[in-house]
Parts: sequence; structure tokens; C-alpha cells
Amino acid sequence: MKHFLKLLDYSKEEIIEILDLADQLKKQKQQGIEHPILKGKTLAMIFEKSSTRTRVSFETGMYQLGGHALFISSKDAQIGRGEPTEDTARVLSRYVDGIMIRTFDQQEVETLAEYGSIPVINGLTDFCHPCQVMADLQTIREHKGKLEGLKACYIGDGNNMANSLIVGCLKVGMSISIACPKAYQPDQRVLDFAAAYGDKFQMTDIPKEAAHNADVVLTDVWASMGQEEEQKIRESAFAGFQINDALMAVTKEGCMVQHCLPAHRGEEITAEVFDAHADEIFDEAENRLHAQKAILVHLMR
Ligand code: CP
Ligand code: NVA
Repeated sequence: MKHFLKLLDYSKEEIIEILDLADQLKKQKQQGIEHPILKGKTLAMIFEKSSTRTRVSFETGMYQLGGHALFISSKDAQIGRGEPTEDTARVLSRYVDGIMIRTFDQQEVETLAEYGSIPVINGLTDFCHPCQVMADLQTIREHKGKLEGLKACYIGDGNNMANSLIVGCLKVGMSISIACPKAYQPDQRVLDFAAAYGDKFQMTDIPKEAAHNADVVLTDVWASMGQEEEQKIRESAFAGFQINDALMAVTKEGCMVQHCLPAHRGEEITAEVFDAHADEIFDEAENRLHAQKAILVHLMR
């Protein structure tokens, strides 16, 4: 049984295979060629956190693949009232063909996969956001024509996005430099993974150092879902960790900007930089659809 729980579980070849499939599905969509590869299949989508892109891209993606998606809010489902994840996994496995879940604890996603008998997809946890990074890699490759040898730079919180970007970029042959405050570093499991890549991975608390000569700069909100109460503390901790014109000035000519969205203009990115790179950022948002469809086909075909 194949799952999509975290990029640490995936090889370079598998990641590239999914990206190639995403490009192919995108082209078919643009040319009006139908592709009902998952005809008659159902995806259950469990959301314990808010979502716009993940929900809409998975739901639309399943429809375009000839299947059907069920939205399950944990507020209304028994899992939100304490029904064990193990039981939810076994029940849903009797009804549907795949589960996508957005939740807090990575262990919940791993448990669903362990106890269910159908593919499980991680639609974001506090640990990682692998679906988003597949769309990011697809967008970078589209704009730059390659991934191998490019330098990515991530500025901000060492959160789920940072964790997945480090793993995804290194696996496909990119280098990545991270700038985050010392108290907000990426997960230790990811740092241990990155240690094997030598100087292809760098971490600093000086944003301009990380951005030097970068081909693509990425960022994310300073306070993730579930951390709203820390907003004020985080605003002071992250002051200076912003993508602005001064930071962009030290990057390589033609450097791209990516943001998983939603964006907080004036915090992690200025409105000026966001607007100058809006096309790339909304290509990235669009590619959630194509990348998600490729993941669905890879697992559920
Ligand atoms: N980037 C992302 O995952 O967006 P949503 O929270 O809207 O799904
Ligand atoms: N780090 C953010 C990503 C949102 C898509 C969060 O977890 O809220």
C-alpha cells in the first residue's frame, strides 16, 4: 500500500515521476483532454484545520479524474469527538478508496495509514506539508526549466513548510539555505536528514546570507494554524525575517519568489515583492491542483 505521508519516505525518482505526471495532467487539462483515471473512486478528506487551496484542489482534482471527494470537517465527525484514529481508518477503508487528512500531529496521519487499508495523503500537519512542496517544485521547474543545481532560500519560521522544503529540495538535487531565528529552527529529524547533504544545506539567522545568489526565495507565515495566540511574540521574534527589496537585491538575477499562501503582506513579505512576483505565486497556487491530481493518480490508480 502506497501512502503520501512525508517527503522523507520518497525517493528522488518517485518525486520526479509525480512531477512529470503533474505536468502531463496540466497539459491535458489545458488542451481539454479528459482524463477519468480514477473513475468511480472516492476520496474522503478530513479537515481538522482550515483550508482553501488544499480543499478546493483535491475536491476539483478528484472530479476531473472522474471520481468524487467527500469533505469531512472534524467539527462534525466523530473523530473530532474522540473516536480513535485507528477505528476511523478501518471504517473509512470500508467505504472509500483514499483518505486525505489535514491535522496537527504527524502521528495521526501515520496511524491512519497503519490501521487503514487504503492510501493516505498528508494534506498538512504541524510537521510537514508535502503536497504544497510538490506544487512548489513543479512551479520552479516550469519557470527555470530544471531543478538540479538550483539554489533555494527559505526565510522565516522553521515550520511544516520549511521541513518539507528542505527535504524536497535536497532530494531533487537542489541546494537550500534557511534563515530563521535560533528559537524557531526546523525539526531535528529534518536537520539530521539534511546533515548528510554537506554544504548543499545551510542554516543561518542572517536572511541576506541565506538569500545570496538564490534562484528562488520562499517564505511562509510567522504564526501557523494553531499558533494564533503567539502572533505578537512571533512578530517581534521574526522582525527582520522578511522578503523585501533589500533581500531580493542579493539574490541571483531573475530570482523567483514562492509563497504557499495565505500571505501576510507587511510581515513575512512586503506587498511590493509579492506584487512583483504575483504571477509566479499564483502559478504555484494553480499547480496545487495539478500536483494533487498526480499524487492521487500515483496512489489510487
Ligand atoms: N497553501 C495551503 O495549503 O493553502 P490552504 O491552507 O488554503 O489549503
Ligand atoms: N505554515 C502554515 C502553512 C499554511 C498552508 C500553517 O501551518 O498554517
